[in-house]
Amino acid sequence: MSHTIRQIVSGILKAPDLATKLSLSRQGFEQIKTNKLQLGEKVENEWVFPENLEFINPFTAKPKLKIPLEHSLLHSAAYIELMAIFMYWDTLSIPDAPYEFYHDFAQIASEESHHFGLIITRMESLGYSFPSIPCNDALYFYSKKTSADICARIVLTSLFSEGRALDSHDRLINKLKSSNTDKTSALLLSKIISEEVSHVKIGLKWFLHFAGDNPKEVYKSVLSAFKLQIRPPFNTKLRDAAGFPQSWYLE
Ligand SMILES: [Fe+2]
Ligand SMILES: [Fe+2]
Repeated sequence: MSHTIRQIVSGILKAPDLATKLSLSRQGFEQIKTNKLQLGEKVENEWVFPENLEFINPFTAKPKLKIPLEHSLLHSAAYIELMAIFMYWDTLSIPDAPYEFYHDFAQIASEESHHFGLIITRMESLGYSFPSIPCNDALYFYSKKTSADICARIVLTSLFSEGRALDSHDRLINKLKSSNTDKTSALLLSKIISEEVSHVKIGLKWFLHFAGDNPKEVYKSVLSAFKLQIRPPFNTKLRDAAGFPQSWYLE
């Protein structure tokens, strides 16, 4: 039986365990790349997280647990990749769009699955497991609020969240390097973050497709609707590589 894009998405989002989710994610991209699938009827997207993943509200959170720096940084990177897998697959089910849109976002989602797998493998080699620390629920909250609004979803996922990942590059890598124990993790995260440049680029391409005549205004209005501020320091080198207009964040 052939599947629609929305059926593929729903299967990935509700897959009960991480290994199945990652393998369906890889297969999903292959199916979308090699066939011309229909978008299909709307289906309820149920997001199923690993059983032991604990969400916390950052505003009411208790003080952080005392854990090694590399554990905390790798765990938070893994969590961001996991949320990116959910957010990007879910994004495919929102609009009626040219087929290239579904291909592009399925490709990003499968790259996020690859990133997630690399970080988990690194964590396991250091004796850490995922999930093992409570995670900030903000990305999940934003996703639920943007499940029917493609412009808002792309702003929050590709432009805000991934843009911030680009900005964090130097800071994160220096932290890991200065811990003097974990240059391997620093190299891994550096490589992953540089691969996020193409995700911002593709996000921008489709945001411009959907946002109408004044994309900068739409971008700013989504940020203000969610009370989000982007603060320096910005990594203009990586943002430029993604084609992110400087006037959108410097003015
Ligand atoms: Fe990623
Ligand atoms: Fe990404």
